[in-house]
Amino acid sequence: MIVVLGSINLDIQFEVENLPLAGETLHARGRSHFGGGKGANQVLAAKRAGADAVLFGAVGDDEAAKIALRGLVEAGVTISDVASVQEDTGLANIYVDRLGENCIVVAAGANGLVDADMAAAAVASAKEGFLVLQQEIPFETNNAALAHARRHDVRTVLNVSPFDERSAELSRLADVVIANQHEWARLSNGFDGPDAMREWSRRNSQTLVVTRGAAGVAVSAPQEYFEVAAPAIRPIDTVGAGDTFCGYFAAELDRGSTLREAAEIAVVAASIACLQAGAQKSIPLRSDVVRALAQSRPS
Ligand code: RIB
Repeated sequence: MIVVLGSINLDIQFEVENLPLAGETLHARGRSHFGGGKGANQVLAAKRAGADAVLFGAVGDDEAAKIALRGLVEAGVTISDVASVQEDTGLANIYVDRLGENCIVVAAGANGLVDADMAAAAVASAKEGFLVLQQEIPFETNNAALAHARRHDVRTVLNVSPFDERSAELSRLADVVIANQHEWARLSNGFDGPDAMREWSRRNSQTLVVTRGAAGVAVSAPQEYFEVAAPAIRPIDTVGAGDTFCGYFAAELDRGSTLREAAEIAVVAASIACLQAGAQKSIPLRSDVVRALAQSRPS
C-alpha cells in the first residue's frame, strides 16, 4: 500500500509561447483547470502503477476542491482521510511554454493546515507499505511524520520539492530521498557525481535518487550505484513528470521490485507523462509503461 501525506491543488495552467520575464505581461494561447498538487499527483501515479493508494491531506469547502479531487476518485484513490477545512483549496498558477518547460507558483491554502495528527494517522495506515511525502505541507508536519515513521518502522519516501532551507534536515529522516538535479545540488552543496551520491547514501543509510529530466536518473544506496537513461521524447508538458516518477518508484518498491527495476519503470512512466497537458491526465497506466519499456529494449 502507498500512503501519501501531501498537497492537493487546483492547477490553473496557461499555455504560453515563452515563460514570462519579470515585469512582462503575456497573452496565453490557452488555459485549463486541472487537478494537481504534488501529493495528489503522486498518489494518483501510485494508483495507476497498480498500488492500493491512500491520500491524507486537506481541501477547502469550495469548487476548486471538487475539480482537484475528481480525478482521484475516478481512479479509485482512497480519499476518505482528506479533511475539509476552513481555508481555500490550494492553488497553483502554472505556465507551460512551447518547449514543454514550466514554472509554477503555489498558494498553500488548505495544505497549510495539514497537521501532526494527520501525520500520525497517515503513519499508522502505512504500516504495511510506504509513506510518501513532499514539501507542499508544513515542515513541522513532515518532520512529525518522518520521526513517527522511524519509531514505528514505517518505510518512507521523501521528495524534497519544493526545496527550501530545511529540506536537508528533513531528508536525513527518510529511507528514500528523491531530488531533482537542482535540489540535489543544494543538498550536496554543489558536489555532484557518483562519489558524492554514494557518500550521502552511506552516511545516512539511505537510498538517494536524483532525477535528471531527459538524462534519466541516478540511484545510490549504501551498497550500489547505477544510472538509468530516459527514452528520447518530444515533451509537450513536463508538469507532474517528477511526481509520476515518485509515485511509480514507491509503488514498484512496494510490490517488491529491486531498486533498478523500480527506477527503470518509473523513468519510462515519467517520460510518458510528458506527452500530454496536465499533471494528472498524462500519468500512464502500468500496462502501458510495461509495454513501452519492453519496446525500448533491444530484442
Ligand atoms: O509537480 C507539479 C505540481 O506542482 C502541480 O500539479 C502543482 O499543483 C504544484 O504542486
